[in-house]
Amino acid sequence: MTTRHFLTLNDLSGQEFRDLLQRAVELKQMQANRVPHELLKNRVLAMVFEKSSTRTRVSFEAGMIQMGGSSIFLSPQDSQLGRGEPEEDTAKVLSRMVDAIMVRTFEHKIIEHMAENSSVPVINALTDDYHPCQLLADMQTFFEHQGDIQGHTVSWIGDGNNMCNSYINAAALLDFELVIACPSGYEPMSALVEANKGRVKIVRTPEEAVVGSSLVATDVWASMGQEEEQQKRQTDFSGFMVTSKLMTQAKTDALFMHCLPAHRGEEVSAEIMDDPDTVVWDEAENRLHAQKALLEFLMC
Ligand code: CP
Ligand code: NVA
Repeated sequence: MTTRHFLTLNDLSGQEFRDLLQRAVELKQMQANRVPHELLKNRVLAMVFEKSSTRTRVSFEAGMIQMGGSSIFLSPQDSQLGRGEPEEDTAKVLSRMVDAIMVRTFEHKIIEHMAENSSVPVINALTDDYHPCQLLADMQTFFEHQGDIQGHTVSWIGDGNNMCNSYINAAALLDFELVIACPSGYEPMSALVEANKGRVKIVRTPEEAVVGSSLVATDVWASMGQEEEQQKRQTDFSGFMVTSKLMTQAKTDALFMHCLPAHRGEEVSAEIMDDPDTVVWDEAENRLHAQKALLEFLMC
């Protein structure tokens, strides 16, 4: 049997994506009702983090424990990765010892090389280009609050970054329209936009992007690895903050999402983040449930 990896959402079919979301909802219910689901008993997940994390680490680690398995955290500081051992060699060795490898890294080609050299599933927990695990959680959250996303309009406000690229993939797989508002020079991957031009549109103002939108999503202006650009980006993204005023121009029941961590007063106003009705905390929680469904899908 060939090993299935999860490097981008395109490693799933649209049907598999929908099935996985349904399973995530079931697993969430089971966890809430304390129904045992030790589907990964004695299985081990290696977690390679070359960038910081709160949600991703805790959700994968808690998920493995809840499913009867365990995980091992590896960072460059305390593994041979930090002393120059190639990622490919690391993947070969880890896949002799564990049942799946989760990787958060910089260039997307690093994770591709790791997958090519791994005999167990490799999961993308964020690269410079994609963040597919977050999209599983975002889509689960949308389905829970508003039903199937097919035919809806979603707006992306801000940087055409790893999250935005993953939203484009989700739009294609789940059949929704995506309107992206970004400053010139901060567009998502051009090949992705081109391949999906029937459903993906780029505009220059957030106000244009949110018209008729059921979901308004954003992310930080400077991603991990771009810290030195923070100041320039703050100028370039001026006018791209998601505010209550902007949300009133979307559909009346439109949801706001942010993968977190959020910077109040930059890409999102404090008022939006601290709205008691926000779904961003559900969105964060769903990382756990959606990834448990993913781990089961890849490992069972
Ligand atoms: N959204 C997300 O991936 O959060 P962390 O960086 O905390 O893992
Ligand atoms: N675009 C952000 C997402 C963080 C979860 C980054 O890559 O830093």
